[in-house]
Amino acid sequence: MSLRVSVIGTGYLGATHAACMAELGFQVIGLDVDREKLQALAQGILPFHEPGLPELLKKHVASGRLRFTDSYAEVAAEADIHFITVGTPQRTDSQSADMSYVDGSVDSLLDHVTGSALIVGKSTVPVGTARRLSERITEIARPGAQVSLAWNPEFLREGFAVKDTLAPDRLVYGVQNEADLALIRKVYAPILANHTPEVVTDLETSELVKVAANAFLATKISFINAFAEVTETVGGDIRTLADAIGYDARIGRRFLNAGVGFGGGCLPKDIRALQARVSELGLSQTMGFLAEVDQINLRRRDRMVSVTESMLDYSVAGKKVCVLGVTFKPDSDDVRDSPALDIAVRLYNSGADVSVYDPQGNENARRRFPRLSYVGSWEEAAAKADVVLLLTEWDEFRALQPAQLANLVNQRQLIDGRNVLDRDAWREAGWTMTGPGERFEVPSPDLDTRAMTVVPVPGAQA
Ligand code: UDX
Repeated sequence: MSLRVSVIGTGYLGATHAACMAELGFQVIGLDVDREKLQALAQGILPFHEPGLPELLKKHVASGRLRFTDSYAEVAAEADIHFITVGTPQRTDSQSADMSYVDGSVDSLLDHVTGSALIVGKSTVPVGTARRLSERITEIARPGAQVSLAWNPEFLREGFAVKDTLAPDRLVYGVQNEADLALIRKVYAPILANHTPEVVTDLETSELVKVAANAFLATKISFINAFAEVTETVGGDIRTLADAIGYDARIGRRFLNAGVGFGGGCLPKDIRALQARVSELGLSQTMGFLAEVDQINLRRRDRMVSVTESMLDYSVAGKKVCVLGVTFKPDSDDVRDSPALDIAVRLYNSGADVSVYDPQGNENARRRFPRLSYVGSWEEAAAKADVVLLLTEWDEFRALQPAQLANLVNQRQLIDGRNVLDRDAWREAGWTMTGPGERFEVPSPDLDTRAMTVVPVPGAQA
């Protein structure tokens, strides 16, 4: 009999995982507590932008391989292997991860499981969670039920979620016995057949792999951004520096783009949760460097705001600021912890008239900050602008040419927050422009250190 799969929690990770499991040929049931979301998913409508996913959802709802429910009883009855894909957001009262959704979903499932089942956690969790849940399963599983737990972190990137699930760089699972391993291998057989590297390990290592990967990526970005602070002061070209060190295969060029810093639903929250967890374990100094990584990252936003202020001669009130891109990265509509949105809001709070255009992110940003002015094109956003800020490197902004904006704006001033435009071409066309890592000459002599001075904000939160 072919395996039946459930996916509990149909957010970004869960919706993608459910559709991809159906694509691999399994009968899949997805569970969520939000009925409206379930109805939408059944029609291939997603509450977020993810290329290729709506098509995959529609395909497998139509093929009958994928259906959705809000009933744990149905899920327990209809699946042999249950993937837990609920969220672990940052708690509002601390830097730790909120584990209530993971714990609640396991408890609810156990209420209904009467036979044998394998629960496979995919959510990003503090190390030790899987061991704790495993003990809880032994405690509260119904008499006669045989329930086991494994951990299988995911590494999907927004914008590439389907590809990262069906053709991942590696598969990692923490397992407790051979039978569970055999079951997981059965699920991933089509992916393993493509020679995908497989890492089989214990529960703790599998949990740590995920946070270690994200902490490394965050550190790499802050590393280059720290050097951007140096070149902003002493001179030099941060892009050339990144290229030059990136040629060393041990370092590699990816994730060495200086800019406005990292954001999104994963990197910021994961480095904070990791620090909180190791402190709980009595290792308060061990991940101390991640506090620096966080601070360097947040200072990028300060820098963008100060350079903008200096371009506007320190009289921001009433000036028109054009913001191109408000999502935390291109090919996503996600504005969670978005540096771009934070910068836009700060300038608004200083009195600027901020006009925002993002190809996908306007609606999500509007929900959070309705007071900014959101427009439907870069032309509208740039109209009469005193300064243009490119904050998210969507392809349509990378392709912009100086002449396209020249007659729209009030002043030809541009800050390329992602270092994706050809500075020489813009300057030759008469623009004042700068970007991360570049020393920026402040126009007013009596204020000549301000744009270069980066003021750390102790304990600043995104
Ligand atoms: C990340 C991890 O990459 C993924 O493996 C994990 O599963 C979830 O978290 P994601 O949040 O989708 O994925 O974004 P990612 O592509 O990693 O980018 C994170 C942030 O870093 C973005 O804000 C991006 O703009 C920024 N970034 C990235 C830089 O500022 N410079 C770089 O060189 C690369």
